[in-house]
Amino acid sequence: MVCFRLAPVPGSGLLLLCLVLGAVSSYALELNLRDSENATCLYAKWQMNFTIRYETTDKHNKTVTISDLGPATYSGSSCGDDQNGPKIAVQFGSGFSWIANFTEEKSFYSIDSISFSYNTNDNTTFPDAKEKGVFTVSDHVAFRVPLNDIFRCNSLLTLGKNDVVQHYWDVHVQAFVQNGTVSTKEFLCDKDKTLTTVLPIVPTTVPSPTTTPSPKEKPEVGSYSVVNSNGTCLLATMGLQLNITHDKVASVININPNTTNFTGSCHPQTALLRLSSSSIKYLDFVFAVKNENRFYLKEVNVSMYLVNGSVFSIANNNLSYWDAPLGSSYMCNKEQTVSVSGAFQINTFDLRVQPFNVMEGKYSTAQECSLDDDTILIPIIVGAGLSGLIIVIVIAYLIGRRKSYAGYQTL
Ligand SMILES: *[C@@H]1O[C@H](CO)[C@@H](O)[C@H](O)[C@H]1NC(C)=O
Ligand SMILES: *[C@@H]1O[C@H](CO)[C@@H](O)[C@H](O)[C@H]1NC(C)=O
Ligand SMILES: *[C@@H]1O[C@H](CO)[C@@H](O)[C@H](O)[C@H]1NC(C)=O
Ligand SMILES: *[C@@H]1O[C@H](CO)[C@@H](O)[C@H](O)[C@H]1NC(C)=O
Ligand SMILES: *[C@@H]1O[C@H](CO)[C@@H](O)[C@H](O)[C@H]1NC(C)=O
Ligand SMILES: *[C@@H]1O[C@H](CO)[C@@H](O)[C@H](O)[C@H]1NC(C)=O
Ligand SMILES: *[C@@H]1O[C@H](CO)[C@@H](O)[C@H](O)[C@H]1NC(C)=O
Ligand SMILES: *[C@@H]1O[C@H](CO)[C@@H](O)[C@H](O)[C@H]1NC(C)=O
Ligand SMILES: *[C@@H]1O[C@H](CO)[C@@H](O)[C@H](O)[C@H]1NC(C)=O
Repeated sequence: MVCFRLAPVPGSGLLLLCLVLGAVSSYALELNLRDSENATCLYAKWQMNFTIRYETTDKHNKTVTISDLGPATYSGSSCGDDQNGPKIAVQFGSGFSWIANFTEEKSFYSIDSISFSYNTNDNTTFPDAKEKGVFTVSDHVAFRVPLNDIFRCNSLLTLGKNDVVQHYWDVHVQAFVQNGTVSTKEFLCDKDKTLTTVLPIVPTTVPSPTTTPSPKEKPEVGSYSVVNSNGTCLLATMGLQLNITHDKVASVININPNTTNFTGSCHPQTALLRLSSSSIKYLDFVFAVKNENRFYLKEVNVSMYLVNGSVFSIANNNLSYWDAPLGSSYMCNKEQTVSVSGAFQINTFDLRVQPFNVMEGKYSTAQECSLDDDTILIPIIVGAGLSGLIIVIVIAYLIGRRKSYAGYQTL
């Protein structure tokens, strides 16, 4: 372990910097950043490598891979202060520099950006590079981690494209460490979740042999509401399961109500319920009034953070679900699917919503979806089955009679 005592930064007190250098694996980087009180403010341990493409003097493109980073220094890393968030700065090899800075927003923290610089003046790594100089690529990384959780991703994360491709794996990072104690509560990246849960990714190309519509466990039911100056104006109770299809592979994500924030707004003709979480930037349900006496779900807008840093967004304002009379609530206990687009569906469980005319914060009488009426459906099916059977017997009897009649004729 190496400790540095840095010169005092105006207004931020004395900064003490202790580094634990790669003891586990030769390429692993590890940083335990301490504040002026010698309390850990940021902890990170990770592995990375880079593939860089550059143009040579004879107009060819060459790629070089930087995987053995060699000894690294961490100068410029800081716990942050009132103006700046915490920052990890790493220098290695011949002029490589890597910087990640963090921000805090409400109860989450995230990496604001990752920037990576390389110097093509280094003739050993970049022989005959046409353009000599320092090049910097900057990427926005779009995952958010609940404060006080440590982010973990053992799976491979890839950032960037074209000239510089960055790979990260075995990542453990916690910024804004509370009380100097690195959390034991891990927040897993989506790719790691799929390693531990049973059936999180359902390949759509393989037909499921089971008859159950969802092979995944049911999502937990959450209670959401919107309050305006007149009190509660929108109520929703539901278990939500998102189904995102990409490259013919469906990822099924259950929404955990415990870690989901909600807000919204109520107007005479429209109402909005907005959910958000560390992985969901927003999931909007927009309700509207039609024919002056009914309401329905008119629009869904979603924007989600994907593991690789890109954002998945889709909107459809031409939906027609959850239709019920104004002054009542809509209820559906069975699994129902809201198909927002070919690539995005929402499966709902134990649903009850009332986006308008909520009285005293309670649901009004419910209009149930037809799927729920199995008390009526079962006798109908049984009845239909029975009458079908009777008809079959009668026809069989008639045919039998005709046959035997015909038989007697020929005899
Ligand atoms: C800071 O804390 C670490 C671990 O608790 C300890 O090993 C180290 O000696 C402390 N340094 C100072 C300057 O107090
Ligand atoms: C970079 O790391 C990834 C993940 O471990 C690995 O698959 C890839 O082969 C590495 N690239 C090089 C050139 O070492
Ligand atoms: C080299 O890469 C650049 C993009 O970085 C591309 O525009 C160019 O066509 C490539 N040149 C060759 C010879 O492949
Ligand atoms: C993080 O670094 C980038 C690039 O250096 C800079 O543009 C951005 O303002 C920084 N963000 C914070 C929160 O310090
Ligand atoms: C940090 O310490 C304060 C005071 O001792 C305590 O109230 C708080 O719960 C602690 N936070 C965590 C995350 O341990
Ligand atoms: C997810 O969507 C795909 C494609 O629409 C579908 O085939 C699959 O059954 C859906 N899975 C679930 C659990 O809803
Ligand atoms: C949500 O919180 C409740 C009560 O604290 C707990 O029983 C439940 O297991 C939690 N659900 C999830 C998915 O974390
Ligand atoms: C939904 O998305 C569309 C298109 O991006 C946008 O025009 C609309 O205002 C959004 N609606 C809400 C309620 O955010
Ligand atoms: C991230 O993944 C999504 C879906 O897998 C893909 O569409 C997108 O192009 C990827 N983005 C980057 C920057 O690699």
